[in-house]
Amino acid sequence: MKILITGAAGFIGSNFMYYEMQKHPQDDYYALDKLTYAGNIKNLDGLKDHDNFHFLKMDIGDTEGIDALFAKERFDIVINFAAETHVDRSIADPSLFLKTNILGTANLMDAALKYGVKRYHQVSTDEVYGDLPLGRKDLFFTEESPIRTSSPYSASKASADLLVMAYMRTYGLPASISRCSNNYGPYQFPEKFIPLIINNARHDRPLPIYGTGVNVRDWLYVDDHSEAIDLIVRKGKEGSLYNVGGHNEKTNIEIAKIVLKELGKSEALITFVADRKGHDLRYAIDPRKITTELGWKPKTKFADGIKKTIKWYIDNSKWLDDVVSGEYQNYYARMYEGR
Ligand code: NAD
Ligand code: TYD
Repeated sequence: MKILITGAAGFIGSNFMYYEMQKHPQDDYYALDKLTYAGNIKNLDGLKDHDNFHFLKMDIGDTEGIDALFAKERFDIVINFAAETHVDRSIADPSLFLKTNILGTANLMDAALKYGVKRYHQVSTDEVYGDLPLGRKDLFFTEESPIRTSSPYSASKASADLLVMAYMRTYGLPASISRCSNNYGPYQFPEKFIPLIINNARHDRPLPIYGTGVNVRDWLYVDDHSEAIDLIVRKGKEGSLYNVGGHNEKTNIEIAKIVLKELGKSEALITFVADRKGHDLRYAIDPRKITTELGWKPKTKFADGIKKTIKWYIDNSKWLDDVVSGEYQNYYARMYEGR
């Protein structure tokens, strides 16, 4: 089979590439990425010598380029990870989120329809469901929960999901959607919470915690997400939507303390800063559908996954140093100085 993976040089896309090429070495893989600030070709270094690996630097919104690529390669499966993904950047400037996440998705689906792709998979997020209150441990997001977005990022991802559903119903696109909770693991760009605080802690710099640090996220090790997507595209029913998450809720302050302890650093580094606008309180997934239908369960316990993740960033400090040089410094100053 020929598989196109977009956003393959980003955090989850690159981890998925390693997972999938190891699990199904008989298939042919086309990794496509625009290589924005978040995409890093070095993330795929370990795959570039494989004969069944091909890299394409391209924008998913490039109508002619995508059409020509699909005409030439006739993909069996398309998995769309490509997106603008950082909530804080979407608050500062939503426009690119609308262009990439909505129009880019439509462009890929047009080509998928025209050239008879057998499965189009949209990688979505639990953030489309908005948030849950903090005091209600009994409430979870199910596939039936209403779309109720908070940030321009989540609104753009929800818009893309709605378009996928429209293409399924109106044009018969054979598609599926997964909505996953927060991922952690290697190769995550350090604008996101976990790699950002690991990077700051290793330099004894303050860890910026928004508001009072009570917000809850449902953390999933990235390989568990890869396994879920692999199962959905190969065994999941066409037209299906699956929530993916592992009942692993932690407050931000808990995460910060775990990271500091693991690195042997003082909790005095914890610094409360102005809250994010519209900050979602709690995300929590009910994964019963994917567990029942596809037998998926998270394999990595948080205590092990976070140790493995911290070790990866420390062992790969050159990777971390490279991605925080240059433009990242301006980003950090813009977002955090005087906050
Ligand atoms: P990321 O920001 O690390 O990677 C996104 C990748 O997409 C980058 O390599 C970037 O260069 C590429 N890209 C951006 N615009 C592009 C364009 N126009 N054309 C081609 N490539 C483009 O993000 P991530 O965390 O790996 O997220 C991947 C997907 O998973 C996203 O769709 C995101 O919404 C979804 N998701 C992420 C999480 C999470 O916790 N990180 C959770 C659930 C869902
Ligand atoms: P993030 O990694 O941006 O993921 P998302 O907002 O998409 O869930 O943030 C995770 C949580 O950490 C979220 O509640 C916001 C919080 N946060 C901080 O407290 N400080 C930070 O510097 C960042 C980036 C996030």
